[in-house]
Amino acid sequence: MQRDTRVVHKALEELVHKLGIQPADHARREVAVQFEPWTTGKVDHNARQRLVERHIGVTVAGEAFLVADRFGESLADRDTDVFHRVVAIDMQVAFTLNVQVDQAVAGDLIEHVIKEPDSGGELGLTSAVQVEPHGDTGLERVTGDFDLPHGALSGGNAHRGLGSKGHDSIASLRRSSVAGSPRPPNFPLAKIIMSRFWSDVVRGLTPYVPGEQPKLANLVKLNTNENPYGPSPRALEAIAAEAGDSLRLYPDPNADRLKAAIAAHHGITPAQVFVGNGSDEVLAHAFMALLKHDAPLLFPDISYSFYPVYCGLYGIEPGIVPLDDHFGIRIDDYIGRTNGGIIFPNPNAPTGCLLPLSEIERLLEHNTNSVVVVDEAYVDFGGESAISLIDRFPNLLVVQTLSKSRSLAGLRVGFATGHPDLIEALERVKNSFNSYPLDRLAIAGAVAAFEDDAYFRACCDKVVASRTRLVGALAGLGFEVLPSAANFIFARHPQRDAAQLAAQLRERSIIVRHFRQPRIEQFLRITIGTDAQCDTLLQALNEILAG
Ligand SMILES: Cc1ncc(COP(=O)(O)O)c(C=O)c1O
Repeated sequence: MQRDTRVVHKALEELVHKLGIQPADHARREVAVQFEPWTTGKVDHNARQRLVERHIGVTVAGEAFLVADRFGESLADRDTDVFHRVVAIDMQVAFTLNVQVDQAVAGDLIEHVIKEPDSGGELGLTSAVQVEPHGDTGLERVTGDFDLPHGALSGGNAHRGLGSKGHDSIASLRRSSVAGSPRPPNFPLAKIIMSRFWSDVVRGLTPYVPGEQPKLANLVKLNTNENPYGPSPRALEAIAAEAGDSLRLYPDPNADRLKAAIAAHHGITPAQVFVGNGSDEVLAHAFMALLKHDAPLLFPDISYSFYPVYCGLYGIEPGIVPLDDHFGIRIDDYIGRTNGGIIFPNPNAPTGCLLPLSEIERLLEHNTNSVVVVDEAYVDFGGESAISLIDRFPNLLVVQTLSKSRSLAGLRVGFATGHPDLIEALERVKNSFNSYPLDRLAIAGAVAAFEDDAYFRACCDKVVASRTRLVGALAGLGFEVLPSAANFIFARHPQRDAAQLAAQLRERSIIVRHFRQPRIEQFLRITIGTDAQCDTLLQALNEILAG
């Protein structure tokens, strides 16, 4: 029997993306089925790693999702409620992909599920899955208990699919599964989820999954590192003033006013500044313009999860460099290693750990033949910017954003500073893509934000003070907190499971970020909120830990 796990993994990734399965920090709404012991060695670890890194609700471990070709009969013998829930999801995926494996694999799957020690009624691993129907996938909506009417099947598709209960699903598949036939004849095929209209590039993409932006009001939202304080009133006024007749006209494609404001703020020249629609866009252009070479691009194993995504988009080979045992970036691990570029955040995300400027300088002194990008999204909360080094090192690009320290995540403004030759490379990409990445409102608001230095510093100071307070209080509750120079902290509790903690906080309307990713799966990333929000969090943790 043929098993091309690479193909299957890719298809699974696409399925997961296209269906918009909710990220794992919907801690109560996830499926994490892990089968490492018997899949290790057989799986494409990179693909799996990418999935896990993206915090997708379904952890795909090798062939665990593949099911037996005489699936119905073999599984039905071992009916349990838990089993139904897990397997129903696996079936949904497997049949959608039109893949098949032998019964031994299915047997392992069942055994693992049933033997899972923490299973209880819910299996612990399998509290819920939410699959949003999308376009013509032919998949029905699946929620917590699979408790949806059959009519939820999209497009009036004749297939019965996974019905209102796991029982029905298994039974229906058993009925329609003929010995020797790998799947019920009317089940949707993989091609449904990979439209023939897609380009090869799109088929191969593994898109970034942004942090959750819940629609619910009254949440204590500590999951995406936004600033708890509003933008500068001067920025708001400037945006309001710009929202008039001038919107008829295109904005300045070069955003010269903004470049001048940034240059003045940092004591550099406008020719050393590039601006874009959020630092994500700036980073994307940097990958394309400066980091796409034959040698691998080096970045930490625990880092901003957009980097591997851009590697995928632009066909750049990632060179993953593990953080040290204390979750720090060790510059010596980068020095002397063949590379087509180096990128890391400083402070790093999601750890918050800061690399001293002297270490970046040391790296630049040794690494002179490729571009080093320092992503300073969080530097204003306690770091020292490497912008001071751009005059000395023509291969240094420093990227910053107005999303965090200037409270303008919704305006989408980011920028890069570096040698004019590097900036010109970014301009060339930008002008081959979108001449007007910043609209008039964004330019006006960003300029005013830079002009209101006092407000900016006051907000940063408040966040830093709250961070100090929160770190102390969390330590008092027994948490280990990594040293943070950012507007978030990364913490673990030696006796409590992080996913469970995140779920318990969510029950109390507090959202923090949990990454189901090797090395950091016992950590929570918590954005620094107002003191009142931090107090709400601490009170909730107190209750949870007492329980
Ligand atoms: C390390 C890092 N870099 C860049 C960004 C992108 O920020 P934006 O696109 O909002 O400027 C983020 C956002 O969270 C980040 O964490």
